[in-house]
Amino acid sequence: MSDVRWGILGTGGIASAFTTDLLATGLNVTAVGSRSEASAREFASRFGEPTAHGSYEALAADPNVDAIYVATPHPMHAKNALLAIRAGKHVLVEKAFTVNEREAQTLADEAAAHDVAVMEAMWTRFLPHMVRIREMIAAGTLGDVRTVTANHYQRFPSDPKHRLNDPALGGGALLDLGIYPISFGIDILGLPTRVLASSSPTVTGVDRQTAVILEHEGGRQSVSQFALDTAGPNVAMVLGTEARIEIDRTWCTPTTFRVIDSNGEVMERYEHPVVSRGMQYQALEFERLITSGQRVSPLMPLAESVAIIGVLDEVRRQIGLTYPGE
Ligand SMILES: NC(=O)c1ccc[n+]([C@@H]2O[C@H](COP(=O)([O-])OP(=O)(O)OC[C@H]3O[C@@H](n4cnc5c(N)ncnc54)[C@H](OP(=O)(O)O)[C@@H]3O)[C@@H](O)[C@H]2O)c1
Repeated sequence: MSDVRWGILGTGGIASAFTTDLLATGLNVTAVGSRSEASAREFASRFGEPTAHGSYEALAADPNVDAIYVATPHPMHAKNALLAIRAGKHVLVEKAFTVNEREAQTLADEAAAHDVAVMEAMWTRFLPHMVRIREMIAAGTLGDVRTVTANHYQRFPSDPKHRLNDPALGGGALLDLGIYPISFGIDILGLPTRVLASSSPTVTGVDRQTAVILEHEGGRQSVSQFALDTAGPNVAMVLGTEARIEIDRTWCTPTTFRVIDSNGEVMERYEHPVVSRGMQYQALEFERLITSGQRVSPLMPLAESVAIIGVLDEVRRQIGLTYPGE
C-alpha cells in the first residue's frame, strides 16, 4: 500500500468511480467527507470503512489525510479546494478545475502560498494511450502537427434539475464535456492565439451544443464539438504532414488508436488493456508529486489549468453564457 493517505470530498458518481480505481490499484483511502453524515457513512461502508466525516471541514482537518480529491459540482470546486489547501492538504480537483479564471488563479496563488500540490484531475492526460501519442509526436512521427479534432457528445437526461442542465451547478456541455477536447487541443498544440465559438442553449440557459475552433501558433488549429443531449462517436484525430493518429471511441478514456501514413497505410496499432476505469493514472502522478516534493505536474501544469479556464471564459463570453453570481 502507498504512503499517501487520500481523503475523498463529496460522495457522488465520480467520487465512487475514483475511489474504486484507487482501491483497485492498492492506494490508500483513509477518509471521506460529505455534507451529510449518513452519506459519508454509506460511502465508507462501500469502500472499506475509511473514517466518515459529516462535513467537508472535518475532512480537511483530519490529520490522517495527506491528499484530498474534490469531487463536487464545478461551482463548489474553488471553495472546497481552498478549504483543503488552507488546511495544508495537497488537492486534486475534478474538471472543470473552477468555473472561471479568477477562481482558478486564486487556487494557484493559494497553492503556492501554502506550499502544497494542486492539480486538475484531467485524467485523460495521464492515460497510457495519451502518453504514447505525446511520445510519437515528440519523436516527429507525424511530421508537423497541424490539426487536432475531437468531439464529445453524450445524451444526458433533460430534467432541468440534472447537474448538466442546472446553471446553479455549473451546467452545460462546455464545463463537463467540452473541456476534454479543448484541453486536448491545448495539450498537443499549446495555448491558442485566437478563440472562435458557436453554440445554442438548453431551455435552462446553459450551452446545449457547442463548437470551438482554437487557432494556435503557426496557423495550426484544434476543433472541438460537443453536446449534452445527443450520443456521439466520441473520436479524435491528430493530423500531421507525414501521418495522422486516429483515436477510437471513447478517445478521452482508455482506448485504442492507429497511426496512418499519408498514403493511408497503417504504421502502428496501439492496444493496451487498462485495469479498472483508468483514473488511477492521475492518482499515481499526484502521489509522485507529493512523495518527490514536487508541486506541479509537467503533464497537467497548474498554470495551464488556469489558462484553459481562461479559454473557457472567452468561449462563454462569445456564446453569452454566465453563471449565477458572476
Ligand atoms: N473525470 C470524469 O470522468 C468525471 C466524470 C463525471 C463527473 N466529473 C466531474 O466530477 C464533478 C462531480 O460530478 P458527479 O457526476 O460526480 O456529480 P454528482 O454525482 O452529482 O456528485 C456531486 C457530489 O458533490 C457533493 N455536493 C456538494 N454540493 C452539492 C450541491 N450543491 N449539489 C449537489 N451535490 C453537491 C455531493 O456530495 P455530498 O452530498 O456527499 O456532500 C454530491 O454527491 C464535476 O465537476 C464533474 O465535472 C468527472
